[in-house]
Amino acid sequence: MEPPSPETPATPLRLPRKGEEVEVVVRALGERGHAVAEIAGRTLRLKGAAPGDRVRARVLRRGRRGLEARLLERLEPGPAAADPRCPHAGTCGGCSFQAVAYGAQLEAKRRWIEEALAGSGLARVPEVAPVLGMEEPWHYRNKMDFSFASRRWVEEHEPEGVDASFALGLHVPGRWDKVLDLQACSIAFPEAEALVHTARRLAREQALDPWDVHAARGLLRHLVVRKGLRTGEILVDLITDALAPERVEPFVAALLEAHPEVTTLVQGVTARAAKVAQHDEERVHHGPGFIREVLAGRTFEISPTSFFQTNTLQAERLVGVVAEEAGLRPGERLLDLYCGAGTLGLCLAGSAEHELLGFEVVEPAVQDARRNARANGVEHARFEVGDVRDVLVAQAHGALPPSEVVVVDPPRAGLHPEVPAALAALGARRVVYVSCNPRQATGDLLRLEELGWATVGARPLDLFPHTPHTECVFTLEPR
Ligand SMILES: C[S@@+](CC[C@H](N)C(=O)[O-])C[C@H]1O[C@@H](n2cnc3c(N)ncnc32)[C@H](O)[C@@H]1O
Repeated sequence: MEPPSPETPATPLRLPRKGEEVEVVVRALGERGHAVAEIAGRTLRLKGAAPGDRVRARVLRRGRRGLEARLLERLEPGPAAADPRCPHAGTCGGCSFQAVAYGAQLEAKRRWIEEALAGSGLARVPEVAPVLGMEEPWHYRNKMDFSFASRRWVEEHEPEGVDASFALGLHVPGRWDKVLDLQACSIAFPEAEALVHTARRLAREQALDPWDVHAARGLLRHLVVRKGLRTGEILVDLITDALAPERVEPFVAALLEAHPEVTTLVQGVTARAAKVAQHDEERVHHGPGFIREVLAGRTFEISPTSFFQTNTLQAERLVGVVAEEAGLRPGERLLDLYCGAGTLGLCLAGSAEHELLGFEVVEPAVQDARRNARANGVEHARFEVGDVRDVLVAQAHGALPPSEVVVVDPPRAGLHPEVPAALAALGARRVVYVSCNPRQATGDLLRLEELGWATVGARPLDLFPHTPHTECVFTLEPR
């Protein structure tokens, strides 16, 4: 073994202390968006490095789950190293894998799903297909939610004493109270950046106060921007803590003048402390109050608060995979659970050959789904507001018509503990489980296996390049 060079500290065999510099070789990527190395028999996590990189890092924390460190220098980039594109890559945390070649990201995502399935206790583990990645994995997000804040995160390269009293951007990871003043974003749709710059300039010129998390007040709270990739329509959703027309109208007018590409501008009002862009009250200042997107040949209306897949190109491929796995035959009925604005159901069962029934808990999304069905001439679809758990429990009393195929696309938490049993009792011939949190989903798959179902397919897609988020379509059949 070569002696350590005099310039770089040797990797200690004992456990390094907080603040100490270490030299390690990155072994793998972790599901929380970290690069993982080993030191003195413990796991060391850091961001901004790729498997195979030899790096110098400073230990920030020593805990029960191992050590956390900050990257100081990539001494020798490994075969999976890439140069981050974004100037905020080390700080923002939004896309923590920018320093990793895209192919290696896809391999890591596949391995995580394989490991989750292998450790799930499933008797029959399906083979995991290669992850379907993007050809051009940049500027893919059709929606961004930026926060206004009265406390700005000061980046390392900035001089001391800079004005930190205003920010519009993204929350710095681990800092609920500080926001990075976003100058560029490599994953947002291209027009998003200019909208952020204009909104920031206007807010400052017009002396509008940003949200102060500590005092829980401030007019400007969020700037949510959405774009229909296929239609070019752009929605701006400005979240404020009060309607305040005398202050908001001049801001909105100037924003629209500077950005004629914005096709609709909505103001959502919420006085709640929660850091989410929600509408307790709504005012449409310009345009129809929604945008349209085309997916798999169908047109969807998307209103400010309804869920829509954030990566249009990959969502289209997702629809394709779900359709293949569902394998709907003429005359069969489809039940679309957690249906959002009806995207999956309408793409799969939009023809008169099928009956479609969808359930979703967010009312505006259901209204969108109904409108989307009408706009696409789908007459055999019904969308209802309902919590999937309640719907399936009610089904035990015969409230639901039978369906041959069921699509479930739950949020990250997966299915409610009562849902698998009710799902298994539906008598479908196939369940297609779309998961944005495959590790969590394996618990549901195991429960369904115990109820007599087998997981026969696992087809992952990358909907979120440069982030650790994974999406996987699992197919289940009765054994
Ligand atoms: C991952 S999204 C899927 C949306 C849709 N399938 C699509 O592809 O556009 C999950 C959806 O489940 C809804 N949801 C969350 N919890 C629910 C529940 N308990 N019952 C019904 N819908 C729920 C959310 O509002 C969201 O629209």
